[in-house]
Amino acid sequence: MTHKNISAGKRIVLGVTGSIACYKAAELARYFMKRGCDVRVVMTESATKFIAPLTFETLTHNPVAVSFWTETQPGAIGHIELADWADAVVVAPATADCVAKMAFGMGESSVLAVVLATKAPVIVAPAMNVNMYEHPQTQENLQALQARGVAIVEPEAGDLACGWRGKGRLASAREIYLQTRRAMGPQDLLGKRVLISAGPTREAIDPVRYISNRSSGKMGIALANEAYIRGASVTMVHGPLPGGRPSVSQDVDCVAVTSAAEMSEAIQTRVFDAPRYNQPDIVIMAAAVADYRPAHPAAEKIKKTTSDDSLSLHANEDILASLGRRRGEAASPLLVGFAVETGEPHKVISEARHKLSRKNVDIVVGNLAQDAFDRDTNQVWIVNRRGTLKHVSTCKKITVAREILNQVVEDVEPDTREPEQHLH
Ligand code: CTP
Repeated sequence: MTHKNISAGKRIVLGVTGSIACYKAAELARYFMKRGCDVRVVMTESATKFIAPLTFETLTHNPVAVSFWTETQPGAIGHIELADWADAVVVAPATADCVAKMAFGMGESSVLAVVLATKAPVIVAPAMNVNMYEHPQTQENLQALQARGVAIVEPEAGDLACGWRGKGRLASAREIYLQTRRAMGPQDLLGKRVLISAGPTREAIDPVRYISNRSSGKMGIALANEAYIRGASVTMVHGPLPGGRPSVSQDVDCVAVTSAAEMSEAIQTRVFDAPRYNQPDIVIMAAAVADYRPAHPAAEKIKKTTSDDSLSLHANEDILASLGRRRGEAASPLLVGFAVETGEPHKVISEARHKLSRKNVDIVVGNLAQDAFDRDTNQVWIVNRRGTLKHVSTCKKITVAREILNQVVEDVEPDTREPEQHLH
């Protein structure tokens, strides 16, 4: 099986307006292109004061449209053609002036004209001084755009080029990409709440030492990104990961925990104790939960002079099995677990099938430790209660995540809750 990038061939019009963050638009164009997108840039005159059209022409291998009057250059296409050509129009960076003009439906520059004329989803990533961003008129304009279905990628907080500190820095290329992917659909998980666990847990021996495993959290992060792109509302409960907050969209609710007991508490309360409309429809246990913890973690650092050199352990609760038990015969939430083995594929498949019934779950993803841990790729065997067996040959974890979620979409129950309850 060959796995195509889902963004391959997607046509992105990148609208660049005059902000100091313009130089980041070059990186953004490359980010989309690396994922297989075809990018065409349209710029305002003031954007050309910050970055030359030649930069974008060289990066995208496409002519750049600047004003209505330069569209006669060889290969350039007019703003209406650009608007029709686009699968998505991404305005990044968007100045306060541009946001205001978009909100009022003005079309005086070719960027504005493309936004006005397109039927494709529009994604706006503002970048400006914090006071301009927080100005009530700017906020009103952004809300007006959002109410019309425009996706607003919130700027980040930090040091601004103008010398101020606060919200106003252009969001990261990854964030803009993820929100653009989500806006382009298809959103077959729209309205679904998905809870994903990821990464290792750490079980304290004393204040400086712990028992853990080699899980990187990459599979869980890929699942969170893919579920988000497909329209789900995503919560991620994760153990300690390198770099702190995992690289998922700012819209994903991340809950950081350390030990297996903390992970269990964070998950069980969200699955069973939350109001019905907030309970997840799907729980995916991708975390490598430590099976044991030191029986008596020491309050002080253990000295090597201590004569007792053995460590007594207690078994941790199996979170997935406990979810299966508490759910019982109910159809929701759909439970997805992993089975990690060393050895031959046939052992993975039989162990995965065994875990379906032993833990009362709906889907088990079997994989080999040597393929999975610390890697960007994986190969998996997906089994479910109806006897399905799907082999996903070695590919990037985001593609494995897509295959797993395809199975989830096939197996999940249609939603029986009142539609307005999703608004909470
Ligand atoms: N899991 C869990 N709680 C634990 C241990 C594991 O919820 N205390 C979940 C994992 O997140 C994974 C699945 O159970 O989804 C399988 O984990 P795995 O380590 O492969 O198997 P175990 O159930 O621990 O069984 P064994 O090690 O005996 O194969």
